[in-house]
Amino acid sequence: MGTAKGSVLIASDVQAILPYTKKVVYLDDLETAHVKGEAFQVFDANGKPVEKKVTTIDWTAEQAKKEGYPHFMLKEIFEEPRAVARALAPHVDVEKHAVDILSHTGLWSANQLSAACASIDRIIIVACCTSFYAAQVGGYLIEQFAGVATSTDIASEFRYRKPVIAKNTLAILISQSGETADTLAVLRQLKKMQVPVLSISNVKNSTVDREADGRLYMNAGPEIGVASTKAFTATLALMHLLALDLAKVRGQLKLNDESRYVRALLAAPAQMETVLACDKFFSEAAATLKNYKGFLYMGRGVNYPIALEGALKLKELAYMHAEGYAAGEMKHGPLALIDDRMAVVMLAPSDSLYEKTLSNLEEAKARGGVIISIGTVGNEKLRALSARYLALPRAEWSVNPLLESIPLQLLAYHVANALGHDVDQPRNLAKSVTVE
Ligand code: G6P
Repeated sequence: MGTAKGSVLIASDVQAILPYTKKVVYLDDLETAHVKGEAFQVFDANGKPVEKKVTTIDWTAEQAKKEGYPHFMLKEIFEEPRAVARALAPHVDVEKHAVDILSHTGLWSANQLSAACASIDRIIIVACCTSFYAAQVGGYLIEQFAGVATSTDIASEFRYRKPVIAKNTLAILISQSGETADTLAVLRQLKKMQVPVLSISNVKNSTVDREADGRLYMNAGPEIGVASTKAFTATLALMHLLALDLAKVRGQLKLNDESRYVRALLAAPAQMETVLACDKFFSEAAATLKNYKGFLYMGRGVNYPIALEGALKLKELAYMHAEGYAAGEMKHGPLALIDDRMAVVMLAPSDSLYEKTLSNLEEAKARGGVIISIGTVGNEKLRALSARYLALPRAEWSVNPLLESIPLQLLAYHVANALGHDVDQPRNLAKSVTVE
């Protein structure tokens, strides 16, 4: 509930209240509120009056305005370099190029940290939708850097199985809003099983934030567009730091490597800024792209979840059929879909899987697919094979997802716009899904 002059506003998400007031009261489960004018009284499940704390949100109403952009989504995409910088800032020493994030979670005291992290045998990351794709990128990074077995799960699936949780498991829950019903149900399930839960959320004091054992914040600022953008890349940045720090604390990361990857992350916001110039590329291409019968998004390794997220964005906003696929799986099905009316968006940055991805791309091209590729500057072979080619700045393999996300968001945004859809409020979708 937001308490404003003359009224009390009720919503499932603070974003909705922010333009009117910064003072909020969080209702807990089974509580009810009696509201009259600007007065309210909260009661517990037994009807007993409860005193509630009024919290002040540290976001400004300005942050919840479009600031000259035609849509919140576009504004939020253009905010991504700053959002990523804000996500990184509390956990990185910019002079020493060192990471320190695990100690900020509140899960362990300073003298428990290294023993506690050494004893983690398994990590599970659970989330929904875009947050789930961030979880997949995070899981990949944790395994590659820290060598800890990590699995990822969709909250609505996890909650209705009998999940087998090994001893010494750490759970990470990701939720921009901190209010998604399925994610919240998983949190409560895990807590009952006494699994320590670290939450990553964007909304301080949201239910997930309040109930988790430890917490990290995306620091992305209010995200109003229904389709998540800046919260996604901010989460990718946090997951990268978590993977690095876990590797470091467990003695798996050389000092040189720590400094190399932290520098790469610190360079990412400026690189993302240059990537935003592709706005024009997609605004011009949209008139053609909107006519394709469908889109296949392909990637390998850490880029694969980004392909899934790219396809989701196009579905959410343009209402077009789009599928994300692991590029190596193409010959097991999707190749049959390819003809000259099918666009193939290939994520092929310069990394250890580049040559493999290129050969997948050749297969798609040979079947007449229209290739739109996103690669690293100087990938001439890729350019030659593509109908449209977008070059990203050179970065560490693990930082590429931050750079690739922006073009895929802009592609979906412009195609949806060209089709005349409401990009901020796509049909049938909601920003916070507080029911099953
Ligand atoms: C809704 C939104 C998505 C978001 C998902 C998960 O479906 O439309 O953009 O990714 O919920 O939300 P969460 O707040 O838990 O990250």
